[in-house]
Amino acid sequence: MTDTPSVAEISRLANRVLDRVGTVVVGMREPLEAALATILAGGHVLFEDVPGLGKTLAARSIATALGLEFRRLQCTPDLLPSDITGSFVYQPATGEFVFREGPIFTGLFLADEINRTAPKTQSALLEAMAEGQVTVEGRSYPLPTPFHVIATSNPIEFEGTYQLPEAQLDRFMVRLAVGYPDRDGEQQVLLARVARRHEVATVEPVVDAGTLAAMQAGVETVHVDPDIARYCVDLAAATRRHPSIQVGASPRGSQGLMLVARARAVIAGRDFVTPDDVKAVASSVLAHRLSLTAQAWATGVDPRDVVAELVSQVAGPPAVGARAL
Ligand SMILES: Nc1ncnc2c1ncn2[C@@H]1O[C@H](COP(=O)(O)OP(=O)(O)OP(=O)(O)O)[C@@H](O)[C@H]1O
Ligand SMILES: [Mg+2]
Repeated sequence: MTDTPSVAEISRLANRVLDRVGTVVVGMREPLEAALATILAGGHVLFEDVPGLGKTLAARSIATALGLEFRRLQCTPDLLPSDITGSFVYQPATGEFVFREGPIFTGLFLADEINRTAPKTQSALLEAMAEGQVTVEGRSYPLPTPFHVIATSNPIEFEGTYQLPEAQLDRFMVRLAVGYPDRDGEQQVLLARVARRHEVATVEPVVDAGTLAAMQAGVETVHVDPDIARYCVDLAAATRRHPSIQVGASPRGSQGLMLVARARAVIAGRDFVTPDDVKAVASSVLAHRLSLTAQAWATGVDPRDVVAELVSQVAGPPAVGARAL
């Protein structure tokens, strides 16, 4: 596909991707939609939830449905930056050192349990995410486009882990919890396992990487009303004033909020963003960027609740979309 697709076409394809992923991933429609919106907005996703809830399955299925090459890396404390980026390897035949690409050279890179690897390796990954390239021994190598990272991290483990500092969490456009399936959903997971007679559930591609890039370009053409941008700014600014928050969301945060809200609107088939789009994604986009005060941390304040509180307090613009048409 070379032409930029229309909003209606992007919406149709995005919903087919979600439906296709939904054939193997039970429940999770909301986090899956947020993850797809993030990818359409050009961002990276952090899934933070306890083991065994289908995070790897979800990441793999999204990658395949989007036609992206998928590589997964289990992060461990002894992982080196070069295990991600690649390194120069000696070629005895020619006597030269040749760069051998690491697993990051892919369309969708799944960094499993990112909080288990050392800060040096985390930062190599985060550099690749921010810049779309890796630098090894002074030479830079561009990553493929589209290039997206889905990382997972386990919220309950502290022993032997390296929690990502806020500055690095900021690089993820969203942090999503996946949650447990309901009773019927969990039964469906079990029966689907019996029916397919093996462990791994797979999906077929819906689009290819080129079409995904065209869809992303299409999302970029969608206008955002200045009132909506202002609303994103006001929400981010409110996090900076909240008494439980030591450091609030950065402009990268308010920009992420606008971009994910816009992609969400497009998935819904709209070429305008409503305040409800912003509200729906605010917690996923902003909560992981907030540092609590020591006191708020000690009393167990959840940054997601802080964002929810601010969403209910900060006045949004009237629904402006209709006027843009
Ligand atoms: N919502 C779900 N839909 C379909 N299958 C699921 C779901 N949740 C769990 N499963 C099944 O449970 C198993 C574990 O899933 P998966 O490996 O994706 O979990 P995970 O969240 O990545 O776990 P970990 O954090 O340990 O890596 C898989 O066999 C998967 O098929
Ligand atoms: Mg996993």
